[in-house]
Amino acid sequence: MLFVVLSTLFLIVNGNEFDAFKTQHRGKVDLSSMKTCYVYDGTIKNVDSDNEEKGYKCEVSVSVWTEDEKQAKDYCESKFPYYIIGAKSGETTSCTFQMNVLCLEDYWQIHGRCYKVSDSKLTWTEAVDYCQMDQKALKQKMAVYYSDRLSMFLEDMIGINDAWVHVPNLKDYFSNGEDNAGVYVQDSAFKYDVRSGSIIMDDLNSKHQVICEYTAPMEMAEMFYIANIYSEIYPIRVYMDGAVIPSSNFMTVNQNGLVSIKDQSNYKGRAEKFDTDNFSEVCGSIGSILNVESFPMTAVAEEFEDVKDIINDQRYYLTNAFKNDGCSETNYKQQNQDGKDFQIFKPNELGKYKNGYCHTHSLIIHKSGRYPTKAATRAPILCTLHTFNWKFGDCPAGPSWVDEVVRVQRPDRVFCHYIANSMIVTHPQAVEICTEKSFGAALSGIDSVEEFEQVTSKAVPNYPPGTSKHDDGRSSLRGGYTKHIGDHYWLGGVSPCEVDCNNNGKQYGNSWNSNVATNTTFLNTPPYGSSYEHKGGVISFRKDMTAFHNHHIDEYEYTFFICGKSANLVRAERKKSGLKSTR
Ligand SMILES: *[C@@H]1O[C@H](CO)[C@@H](O)[C@H](O)[C@H]1NC(C)=O
Ligand SMILES: *[C@@H]1O[C@H](CO)[C@@H](O)[C@H](O)[C@H]1NC(C)=O
Repeated sequence: MLFVVLSTLFLIVNGNEFDAFKTQHRGKVDLSSMKTCYVYDGTIKNVDSDNEEKGYKCEVSVSVWTEDEKQAKDYCESKFPYYIIGAKSGETTSCTFQMNVLCLEDYWQIHGRCYKVSDSKLTWTEAVDYCQMDQKALKQKMAVYYSDRLSMFLEDMIGINDAWVHVPNLKDYFSNGEDNAGVYVQDSAFKYDVRSGSIIMDDLNSKHQVICEYTAPMEMAEMFYIANIYSEIYPIRVYMDGAVIPSSNFMTVNQNGLVSIKDQSNYKGRAEKFDTDNFSEVCGSIGSILNVESFPMTAVAEEFEDVKDIINDQRYYLTNAFKNDGCSETNYKQQNQDGKDFQIFKPNELGKYKNGYCHTHSLIIHKSGRYPTKAATRAPILCTLHTFNWKFGDCPAGPSWVDEVVRVQRPDRVFCHYIANSMIVTHPQAVEICTEKSFGAALSGIDSVEEFEQVTSKAVPNYPPGTSKHDDGRSSLRGGYTKHIGDHYWLGGVSPCEVDCNNNGKQYGNSWNSNVATNTTFLNTPPYGSSYEHKGGVISFRKDMTAFHNHHIDEYEYTFFICGKSANLVRAERKKSGLKSTR
């Protein structure tokens, strides 16, 4: 009570100073803990100057004598309703508390919960409704008066006269206590002739203010704090972006059925189908022990890079990546928390795809790398206290020969086309340019009418100096001899068809190279489909005919070209771990 008056005065007197303090830390630090810190003339600092996500702490000195560290810690805990991370005894006691959780600005934070008192006076039933309706999304409810200790902290909260609270067991207070309807009395204590901070019983139809509470959403800083605390008990390892925990049980990838396998268009039999759905349950239950959410570790390269240094033993861990069909590394998929699948491996630096993984189904990680493994491999799962959703980012800028970059959205990925409108090369040269180490693309492919229109509208031939297009579609290069450089662009497709060739029992003539496009129907269907059926050669796009075209490769064929690759994956929203509601 005395403190409230003092601190209120202090804030008014030094209003400007507090405003400056608030502006400096606003949005990052909880307002009520900031007020507390300010009132005690404390200093706010980063918990870890190398990682802002670990949150903020406040260091205060109070002129209270404590004998030893234990007494100092008890004192700090009784005074500050936050995580106490440092306490020093002496003639003045110093306390360091963490300011992790962010409450809405008109709330008062006590031990990770956010409290507010209503202005209006309500009956018990109205009060219950008021709290629920006021902040529905935050699952606000009437405050639970779980212990007398709460009154020590509510004392610092301004504006409470007498307010309804939910008292778990009124029998602890009154011999005739029943149910849970209590009234917490603070500034109007004189009216009821009780001490400030008392609980009284009253008629359910009488009117009082109400104290509401909600549990603050978990912040990264709190996750770090909790993980650190629990790392003394569980094999948790904390790193820059989060924390990981291995499961104590060994798991394998689940088989969930059979799928037909085809070779070209021929049915070859059935193969087992796998998923890693059960891993989520296991990580979920590990999280339950700690009362935090937990997810299986994903196997995306960036995420692996982050954790590999803290996997400091020799063990292999399963991730939630899996592969059902295809013999290529790029067939490994991982499920996002939002339900979408993403490729785990990008084509390697040469724009090529490592093959030879026909009989592997899951992916394990070890500090030395990510390795394909068979479904039968038994290993612990690595669970994380956070996870990311991944999305496709921008198309990275291409090399200097690129005239146009076209970013297209396909159903399962974002694809980037790099068009050379002013450079003519042979087919082998084009392959080399696209797959150049630092670029990592391949000759491109096109999957739909929309994509065709987006890409080909930007294919505008601009004959380099010394070359020109002949009327008959032939052009001449300086040097005297003639080469075909009509308005063609090399693409990544072949004839005869190699994949997905079944055309209602007949064979399509052409197919796309792996990983640049998949729609064989589109490639082979007029008006844009190649009208040529001759077996052999590669695919190009003819601007003069607005269609795909079959092309023989010989050393005199010079044309423009289009390279393509998937857009880079970038971290989208971080699906933060959260404290479970039972907190
Ligand atoms: C995986 O989950 C399913 C559905 O919850 C369950 O029926 C099955 O027994 C689980 N498998 C394993 C290996 O835990
Ligand atoms: C493939 O191309 C055909 C023919 O243009 C089209 O009908 C179909 O929608 C395309 N499929 C996809 C997945 O784009």
